[in-house]
Amino acid sequence: MSTDGSAGDADYGRIGAGYAHYRRPDPRIAAPIQAALGGARTVLNVGAGTGSYEPADREVTAVEPSATMRAQRADSTAVDANAEDLPFADDSFDAAMTTFSVHQWSDPETGLREMRRVSRGPVLVLTCDPERLHRFWLTEYVPEVIEVEARRYPAIARLRGALGEHTTSTVIPVPLDCVDGFNEAYYGRPESFLDPRALRACSAWSFVPDQDRQRGLERLRAELADGTWDRLHGHLRTQPSFAGSLMLVTAAEKLPPGMSRIGERLRPRGERGQNGSRPTPRRTSWPST
Ligand SMILES: C[S@@+](CC[C@H](N)C(=O)[O-])C[C@H]1O[C@@H](n2cnc3c(N)ncnc32)[C@H](O)[C@@H]1O
Repeated sequence: MSTDGSAGDADYGRIGAGYAHYRRPDPRIAAPIQAALGGARTVLNVGAGTGSYEPADREVTAVEPSATMRAQRADSTAVDANAEDLPFADDSFDAAMTTFSVHQWSDPETGLREMRRVSRGPVLVLTCDPERLHRFWLTEYVPEVIEVEARRYPAIARLRGALGEHTTSTVIPVPLDCVDGFNEAYYGRPESFLDPRALRACSAWSFVPDQDRQRGLERLRAELADGTWDRLHGHLRTQPSFAGSLMLVTAAEKLPPGMSRIGERLRPRGERGQNGSRPTPRRTSWPST
């Protein structure tokens, strides 16, 4: 039972107080989001939290169920609602986005279909690919926290399936001095994991039993002190970015009635392509990239 209206699996009434300090939007992660929003003027942000990655140059409507998170926003206009039941009419927005949130929803498919319903333009999901989480060295010290994340994050193919055809996914590299403190943000700054406030801003840690967390982090502390970590992973302290699990999943804008899409181009449904070929048949499932 949450203490502040949290709708997801994490209780932000308990862990959310320092979120705005440790989880600031990183401009290098914001850039591909801005690009994918294209010319959208009105944007819905679902699971908006404290407002990270909301574009300042567009009209944003935020949806956020946790009172603790809403209280840390610069504005007081966030709508108290859940992704799974968005209180907006069909095609209300030019675009819809959600960042670091879909893994907490009780029903990601329903939430994503809701986003698809209310956006006439693109739908963007910034999330982590559970299949790529084990690339991160933290799994050698606290495998439990990576296992928790791997269980929570929906497979990318599942998200693409819910968003429908013409959905793409791209790895977003994490910069070395990333100011958004999710776990991989600290790939080159291992001492950050010894700050309990940084751990509190990353909800996965709230699911790891105390003894597992302590055992893993004590080993990290010891191996930082005796040089083992640096011998094994020290090159990461200067590696400019890390291609880890962070992904941007983007569903293209809705098609006007009677139109179909061939590659990037829209054509009346049934019209033949340049070489006389029929339009590409609709695909029902999409491979992961
Ligand atoms: C890790 S925070 C991310 C916040 C913000 N989007 C960001 O990038 O910093 C996850 C957010 O998703 C919200 N959330 C959880 N379950 C939700 C649901 N079913 N519908 C909408 N938001 C939800 C939480 O309350 C929390 O604010």
